[in-house]
Amino acid sequence: MRQDAEITMRSLRINPMENYKKIIKDILIDEAALQTRIEELGREISTDYKNSTNFLLICILRGAIMFLTDLSRKITIPHAMDFMAISSYGTGGRESSGVVRINMDLNTNICDKDVLIVEDIIDSGNTLAYVLELLSTRKPKSLHICTLLDKYERREVYVPIRYTGFRIPNEFVFGYGLDLDEIYRNLPFIGVVDLDKFGG
Ligand code: IMP
Ligand code: MG
Repeated sequence: MRQDAEITMRSLRINPMENYKKIIKDILIDEAALQTRIEELGREISTDYKNSTNFLLICILRGAIMFLTDLSRKITIPHAMDFMAISSYGTGGRESSGVVRINMDLNTNICDKDVLIVEDIIDSGNTLAYVLELLSTRKPKSLHICTLLDKYERREVYVPIRYTGFRIPNEFVFGYGLDLDEIYRNLPFIGVVDLDKFGG
C-alpha cells in the first residue's frame, strides 16, 4: 500500500517537499537576499511613482505571484493590482518560442494608468515583448517592466526593463514562484536545477 502510494506520487511528480534537495545544484539567491532586494525595489518604485494618481501593478501569472505579493507590501504608495496569465510554447518544456498565448486577460481598463508589469524572469524576451506590444495598444499613460530575474545571455528580442532584481547566468532556476513541472513555486529561495538529476 505504502509502496503503491510512493509509485503514484513519483509518476504524478507530486513529491514531498524535501525532494527538491535531490534535484537542486545550488541555491542561487537565498531568502534574505531576495527580501533585501525586493525592499530596495519597493523603495525605488515608491519614489518613482509618488506623483502617480493611477498606479497599477500587473502580475504575470503564475510565476510572478510570490514576487508581486512581496513587492506590493514594500511599495508605500497607493496602487491597484491586476493579473494576466500567459503561456508561451516552445520546442521543449524549458524553451519559449515566441508563440505567446493569453490564457487570462486583465479585468482592468489600463487606459491613462501608470502600469508596471511584474514578471518573474525574462529569458528570450519573447513573452514580455508580446505583452508590451499588446498592452501599449490599450493606451496606458506609462508602461514599464519590473522583473525579478534577468537571464540576459539568452535574450533574442530586446525588452526595455526598468527594474531588475537580479541578473542571473544561463541556468534553469526554480523556487519563489518559478516552477519545475508546476511544483516548488512555494520555496522561499531561487535554486538552480541539476538537469542530470531532474531529467531535463
Ligand atoms: P521568455 O519568453 O523566453 O522570456 O520566457 C519567459 C518565461 O519562461 C518566464 O515567464 C518563465 O515562465 C519561463 N522561464 C524562463 N526561464 C526559466 C527558468 O529558468 N525557470 C523557470 N521558468 C523559466
Ligand atoms: Mg512566467
